[in-house]
Amino acid sequence: MDELFVICATHEVEDGGARGFVLARPGEAGGTVPWPILVSRKGRNFYGFENACPHQGLRLDQASGEFMDDAGNFLTCSHHGAQFDLDTGHCFAGPCQGKALTPIRLVVDDGDVCVSGVDLADEDGLDLPESDVPEVVITSD
Ligand code: FES
Repeated sequence: MDELFVICATHEVEDGGARGFVLARPGEAGGTVPWPILVSRKGRNFYGFENACPHQGLRLDQASGEFMDDAGNFLTCSHHGAQFDLDTGHCFAGPCQGKALTPIRLVVDDGDVCVSGVDLADEDGLDLPESDVPEVVITSD
């Protein structure tokens, strides 16, 4: 079985909401590059996406610090207002309508939301804000 990397506890993502994290991946040219992701939640189900808008590749929350529209129903890109389904990442309105966020496979394990099947690197040296960086724990089931 793939290694699981714990991102956060399930209770740390609000039902009907989303939260962002910055992980680190090995860069193609060596070294380490930041990998911003977001985790959204509907009830007991959690969904992971790369935090990169299909319109211009920017972080959805970069301009406003928010992932959700004013009504709190959809993921919204704070740059030009693209709206995405919380569970599928499908863009149904805005400049990238018809495209979708890139999904990440999540596994809920013993109350933790984990990513699986990806090659992560140590984020040391990326100089990221501490609030962005999860305490990643590797488990092996
Ligand atoms: S970069 Fe997201 S809508 Fe333009």
